[in-house]
Amino acid sequence: MQFLDFTKKVVLITGAATGIGANAARYIAKLGGQMALVDINATGLNEVVEQIKGDNSPNALAIVADVTEDSERIIAETINHFGRLDVLVNNAAIGSEKNIMDADISDFDRMMNTNLRSIVILTKLAVPHLEKSKGNIVNVSSISGIVPVKYAFYGMTKAALDQFSKSAANEFGPRNIRVNSVNPSFVLTPMFENAFTAEEALRLKNKCKERYPIGRMGRTEEISAAIAFLASEAASFITGVQFAVDGGAISAGAHYLN
Ligand SMILES: NC(=O)c1ccc[n+]([C@@H]2O[C@H](COP(=O)([O-])OP(=O)(O)OC[C@H]3O[C@@H](n4cnc5c(N)ncnc54)[C@H](OP(=O)(O)O)[C@@H]3O)[C@@H](O)[C@H]2O)c1
Repeated sequence: MQFLDFTKKVVLITGAATGIGANAARYIAKLGGQMALVDINATGLNEVVEQIKGDNSPNALAIVADVTEDSERIIAETINHFGRLDVLVNNAAIGSEKNIMDADISDFDRMMNTNLRSIVILTKLAVPHLEKSKGNIVNVSSISGIVPVKYAFYGMTKAALDQFSKSAANEFGPRNIRVNSVNPSFVLTPMFENAFTAEEALRLKNKCKERYPIGRMGRTEEISAAIAFLASEAASFITGVQFAVDGGAISAGAHYLN
């Protein structure tokens, strides 16, 4: 049996226009997945869908949507198009480089709404379909869900997300649905590039080189591999885990890069 095989599996990924979500979409499509891809960025999303179709995986659907507002339409379009849902990857999120005193409470509300509230709603809508398919959920969190980083509000959304994943794993296990978190450390994506000034980004890259045991930031395909593994049959006995993909940052105590 081929475990990392998504043939006939319908995989919904949010935030699939760029970064980790776009890479994971291409990665899982190459493993045979039929992809329902969601993003607010229509241009980027359509490019990813065209790339996937060009790679001989015709079954990719673009759903241009805002996860904070369009959850019902996202699930409805997926089910109308594919007739089923096997995997939900909650990846869309927003970041902020601000610390507690610099951030406005509206930053907090925006992040909680995008990084947490939208996932709770999408999960509730997806569960009846995942129950039918004996499917699973992968929540893209962060090492900041496990250990404190400098950016408190963002970390708070991810810590709450991890707690949600574990509670969901307990609640949905008897319904044959697994739920896991992938927790990356710094990965070079548009989120990373937009969140920091060029100077701060360079400082962080150098800090990763110096202090992470693997001596560099992560690559998108390394996060995709972890998402694909947890979403696949290879992980059939794994639920409720926080799977750090962090170059050893946590074990080396190198998460707080001040
Ligand atoms: N990059 C890192 O260092 C890092 C580290 C740890 C964890 N993560 C996590 O990994 C995940 C992906 O991060 P990334 O770095 O790949 O981010 P990214 O490059 O910013 O990509 C995220 C995508 O989500 C979209 N998006 C944002 N808000 C949305 C909404 N309300 N509805 C629909 N789509 C929305 C973004 O669109 P716009 O660009 O138009 O906003 C973007 O296309 C996130 O959960 C992030 O927290 C990233």
